[in-house]
Amino acid sequence: MTLTPAPPTPAPPTPAPAPRRSGSRILGPWLVVLGLVCAATTVYLLSGYVPPDPDRSRVPVTGTAHFALLLVHIGTGSVALLLGPLQFVPWLRRRHPAVHRRIGRTYLALGVVPSAIVGVPVALLSAYGPVPRAAFALLSLTWLVTAVAGYRAARQRRFDAHREWMIRNVVLTLSAVTFRSWLGLLIVTTLPQLRDTYDGDFETLFRDVYGAAAWLSWVPSLLVAECLLRWRPRP
Ligand code: HEM
Repeated sequence: MTLTPAPPTPAPPTPAPAPRRSGSRILGPWLVVLGLVCAATTVYLLSGYVPPDPDRSRVPVTGTAHFALLLVHIGTGSVALLLGPLQFVPWLRRRHPAVHRRIGRTYLALGVVPSAIVGVPVALLSAYGPVPRAAFALLSLTWLVTAVAGYRAARQRRFDAHREWMIRNVVLTLSAVTFRSWLGLLIVTTLPQLRDTYDGDFETLFRDVYGAAAWLSWVPSLLVAECLLRWRPRP
């Protein structure tokens, strides 16, 4: 009697994987919101300086040279604020890498680098005292260092490191938005203390709040970005 091998039992059908939302699908709406917030903030910020008039400057300036530096900072800062969010659009990065590179170079060369360099003297000339001066000068330097590190990483084709440095850098660019948000929030929440704590002196209240907003505009966001970068799930 010959033994014929039993026909192989068919493998049980594997259940279809649950549909997953890809990272870029989840990111999409947030990027649109971020882009709109940045565009609206840029229009608001520029509106105080077009046409340029030192007497209408929203921050006090010491003279023509100070005002000229501030204008360079604002013009180039606007380039950075408008282009920064675009660099995170996954479709643009994947489908049009040459456009991504060109926008990236413009973001750095006509945006971050000149804005951060003139940001140092502009910071040291701030009329609101040593607290915002220190916060903005250090922010300018950190903005510049992250830009240089991100650019070098891209040139050396270390794309993971490039991505991380540019996330830090754009988080710092967004301080133009967070600073104004903190300033508004702190003014509203501190105003009830105007009479008791500040003897009705709004200028002193504003100075305090301005210094706090200058630090709050970038240190917490940079820390959050750092935590997310360190603890994000890796493939
Ligand atoms: C991220 C790094 C940045 C630093 C370190 C920085 C620093 C400064 C400093 C020191 C001042 C003068 C404040 C004073 O005199 O008290 C200033 C003002 C200003 N900055 Fe920036 N800034 C940064 C980003 C930006 C960006 C991206 C924009 C985008 C447009 C921008 C727009 C302005 C404007 C419009 C003013 C004049 C004040 C006002 O009208 O609110 N800054 N910035």
